[in-house]
Amino acid sequence: GRVCLAYSGGLDTSTILKWLINEGYTVVCFLANVGQEEDWDEVEKKALALGAEKMVILDLQKEFVEEVVFRAIQCNAIYEDRYLLGTSLARPIIARSQVRVAQENNCDILSHGCTGKGNDQVRFELAWKALAPSVKVIAPWRIPEFIAKFQGRNDLLAYAKENNIPVSSTPKAPWSMDENLVHCSYEAGILEDPDHTPPKELWKMTVDPIDAPDKPYHFTIFFEKGIPVKVVTEDKKEVTDSVELFKLLNKIGHDHGVGRVDIVENRFIGLKSRGCYDTPGLTIARLGHIDVEGLVMDSKVRELRDQFVTISWARQLYNGMYFSPEREFVENSIIFSQQNVNGQVRMMAYKGNAYTLGRSSDSSNLYSEEDASMDSLDTFSPLDTTGFIAINAIRLQKYGEAKIAQGQP
Ligand code: ARG
Ligand code: SIN
Repeated sequence: GRVCLAYSGGLDTSTILKWLINEGYTVVCFLANVGQEEDWDEVEKKALALGAEKMVILDLQKEFVEEVVFRAIQCNAIYEDRYLLGTSLARPIIARSQVRVAQENNCDILSHGCTGKGNDQVRFELAWKALAPSVKVIAPWRIPEFIAKFQGRNDLLAYAKENNIPVSSTPKAPWSMDENLVHCSYEAGILEDPDHTPPKELWKMTVDPIDAPDKPYHFTIFFEKGIPVKVVTEDKKEVTDSVELFKLLNKIGHDHGVGRVDIVENRFIGLKSRGCYDTPGLTIARLGHIDVEGLVMDSKVRELRDQFVTISWARQLYNGMYFSPEREFVENSIIFSQQNVNGQVRMMAYKGNAYTLGRSSDSSNLYSEEDASMDSLDTFSPLDTTGFIAINAIRLQKYGEAKIAQGQP
């Protein structure tokens, strides 16, 4: 059989590559560039040296940002009040590309190195089944013989030695990472104790807020239909390209320590898991977007969007249900809700946070300085409010009377 394997160059997937070959499969390796730091040539060389028929590396940064990350910004996506979904956002883009690479290379089997306890296996396999319904899957970490053979890192290292798999000389960090343009995640290992403080050197994408400059950094983000289309900084940098814009926000967030999160989250499969994430650019973009929405968005649309749309979209992405009718359905609402979200927000990054200093927009009549002003009695009559309060009080007065009758304060 012919297998297309998601290959990272690490010890786990190198072992899987060699194991598949030893089991008699022909393997085409696939690696997506979603903005992580990587020595691409080195990974290719390693895959070919281990016997892969081919190594395919594709730059998916633009589709990642424009199709998914921008959507996340448009709906202020967040999972369990903290996690901005960095890993979850990239999975559908990676999975879709892997299916294409498999098809182009006549592979009818897809494989990955995800553990049997995580979300990622679910995300990859659900995406694959939706896009190529007849595909076969090899998930080594759920195959009894494989698990029995590789019970710990020492078994992997012994196998590597027997099979001439080069092992990196830099010692492996005592946690697992997943990096892309949006974030870097840190899980497992020493982080499994939820009361263990992440060591200072763990965070790759942000400086420690304690060490961040004492001077704030100012910039303006411009939004069109809820999508960031331009960033202008205090030192006159001006960026409009989607990927470059995101990298600039990452750099600002990095330098000022914005976007660190430490959470115990509920995985789709039911386990609780502790994760640390640094998400500099997306944290900033999300906050700025929320503040432009405040100025221009209809209040009832906003309320419904917050209660149903954002929660649903985040859940769908987290659970790997991207290629689903419900995601398409919800996404149409997101796009509709953003028709009017045009404007700009002035911000500053400072010591671990991003602050909004002001916002403006030409495309909404909802906010009126005159209506809201404490000094003006012209456009909106305070006398009308007497009736508004009286009507709204009817029900509450009855409730109060009943409570008093029951002897409650
Ligand atoms: N817990 C996060 C999520 O489920 C991050 C997963 C990181 N994945 C990884 N292969 N290290 O989205
Ligand atoms: C893994 O299990 O492979 C990583 C963590 C996760 O997918 O949740």
